[in-house]
Amino acid sequence: MSAMHEENASIVEEMQLRSEVTLGSRTYHSGTLQEQPVVVVFSHWGKVAASITATTLITHFSVSEILFTGVAGALDSSLSVGDIVVATDLYQHDMDASPIIPRHEIPLLGRSEIASDATVTTNLQQAALQFVDKDLSRMVSADAIQQFNLQSPVVRAAAIASGDQFISQPADAAGIRQRLPSVACVEMEGAAVAQVAESFGVPFGILRTISDGANESSDIDFLAFVAEVARIYSVGIVKRYLAAAG
Ligand code: ADE
Repeated sequence: MSAMHEENASIVEEMQLRSEVTLGSRTYHSGTLQEQPVVVVFSHWGKVAASITATTLITHFSVSEILFTGVAGALDSSLSVGDIVVATDLYQHDMDASPIIPRHEIPLLGRSEIASDATVTTNLQQAALQFVDKDLSRMVSADAIQQFNLQSPVVRAAAIASGDQFISQPADAAGIRQRLPSVACVEMEGAAVAQVAESFGVPFGILRTISDGANESSDIDFLAFVAEVARIYSVGIVKRYLAAAG
């Protein structure tokens, strides 16, 4: 699953396509990539949209594992644009059924966080490290490397928070940072995919490339970054992940 249409299109371009099915306004591309059977789909944006897509992958396509790629806004000030975060745990920063249950706790789960699959996460991290080491300078243009300062991107495993909000106000970022201090970055789908996958007992991993600092300049060059950098990271890392799984 990809959060951005551009990533989805680029991954589809690389696969051996067998069939396309449109269900619930999404097109699911089935085939192989690095000789592994895959179903590739654009998740659409936000927690509800991602839940629909993840549920369909599991109940209709019977996938054995879900990988999610996309971009995120950094909350941890040591992260820079172009760094990569692989989720260890996912939170819903906008979940709040207090005072009935504590803020952020997921109703009926009795906890606020959902852990990603340890093996998928370790393997995604490995794939991302190899991509940075071996592929990035060949796959991303020299202009983009210079424009976005991608000389030595960091790959980090950390908690990620999702919510139905693009975070661009410093006060919103500060609030999440204060309430969920372990969270490295924010996005809009990962925790929903986590909740669906956990409900069905399907292993999952979430990979995010930092596109902005979750502040007022979040929209600057966002689309150029997705087109010239994040899209390429996703293709390269997913290919490395699948090649290692073969
Ligand atoms: N995805 C990328 N940047 C984001 C941000 N600042 N807030 C939410 N989702 C994002």
